[in-house]
Amino acid sequence: MLQIPEHKIPITEIETNFDVQIFVKREDLIHQKISGNKFWKLFLNVNQYLESKPQNPLLITFGGAFSNHIASVSAFGKEFGIKTVGIIRGNELENNWQENPTLSEASKNGMDFHFVSREDYQNKEKLTENFSNQYPNSLIIPEGGSNESAVEGVQYMLGNDTKDFDYLCTAVGTGGTIAGISKFAEAGQKVLGIKVVRDDSLEKTILEWSGKGNFELVNADENRYGKISEENVRFINWFFDEYQIPLDPIYTGKLMQTIFELAQKGFFPKGSKVLAFHTGGLQGIKGANLFLKNKGRELISLNL
Ligand SMILES: Cc1ncc(COP(=O)(O)O)c(C=O)c1O
Repeated sequence: MLQIPEHKIPITEIETNFDVQIFVKREDLIHQKISGNKFWKLFLNVNQYLESKPQNPLLITFGGAFSNHIASVSAFGKEFGIKTVGIIRGNELENNWQENPTLSEASKNGMDFHFVSREDYQNKEKLTENFSNQYPNSLIIPEGGSNESAVEGVQYMLGNDTKDFDYLCTAVGTGGTIAGISKFAEAGQKVLGIKVVRDDSLEKTILEWSGKGNFELVNADENRYGKISEENVRFINWFFDEYQIPLDPIYTGKLMQTIFELAQKGFFPKGSKVLAFHTGGLQGIKGANLFLKNKGRELISLNL
C-alpha cells in the first residue's frame, strides 16, 4: 500500500494590473517526475490495485509519443517499484523511439513498450481485452489516467489552502482533473476548465464524474490538442521571465494565457480571487522544442 505523501504545495500570487487577484498552486512540484494532477490521478487507482495483492504487479496504459501520462506512469512505477508497460500510438516509432525524449525517459524508468498502428490504437476496448487476457493480474489504466478513482484522487489537490478562492481553474484534457476539483470544491466556488482538446462530449463526462454543475468550460484559443501557437510560446517565455514559473505549451501555457485574456476582458467579477492549478507537463517541453526547431520557430527557453 502506498501512503499519502506529506505534501505542502505552495500557492504563489501573480502580480498583474488586472482588477482581480491571480494565484498559482504549484502541483507541478509534488514530485520531480510525476508532476501535478498525474500523481493524484494514479494514486488511488494503484493503491486499490495493490490492496488486492496481485502477484507481480504490472501497470499497463496507453498514450502518444509525447504523452505526459506515459511519462508519469513510468515514473510512478519506478518510484514505487512496479513494472510498467506503455501501449504507444504509432508503430512507425518502433525503430526510432530512442530519439523521442518522452519515450527514452520512460524506458529509463523501466517501462516496456508495445507499439500499435494508429488504426488499432483507436479500438481501446479490443486492446484492453487483449492485454488483460495476456496479463490477467495487471492494472490497465485508461489513456490520460481518468476514471472514477482518479477523480477521487484529485481531492488531495484541494484543502484548507484552496477554500478561500472564488475560482478554481485547470486545463482540461480527458476531464478527470476538473471533475475532481468540481466534486470536492466548496459550496459557492466556481470551477473553470480551459479545454485544450476538441471533444464535445467532455461536459457530459465531467458532469457524470463530478455530480455537480459548478463548472464551466472555456476553449483555449488554440484548442487543438498538440497545436503550439507562436503567441503561446511567446507568452510562456514572457511568463517565465516575469514570474519564474515554467509552463508547458500543451496544457498550463494555454491555461494561464486564457486566464489572462479572460481577466483582461472582465470575465471575472472585480476583486475575485482566481486560483490556477499548475498541473505539470513540463517534460513535454523537450519534445515541443524538437518540433519548433524543425519548423525554424522560436523555442521555449525556460533555462530550467
Ligand atoms: C499537464 C497536464 N495538465 C492538465 C491535464 C488535463 O487533465 P485531464 O486529462 O484530467 O483533464 C493533463 C492531462 O492529463 C496534463 O498532462
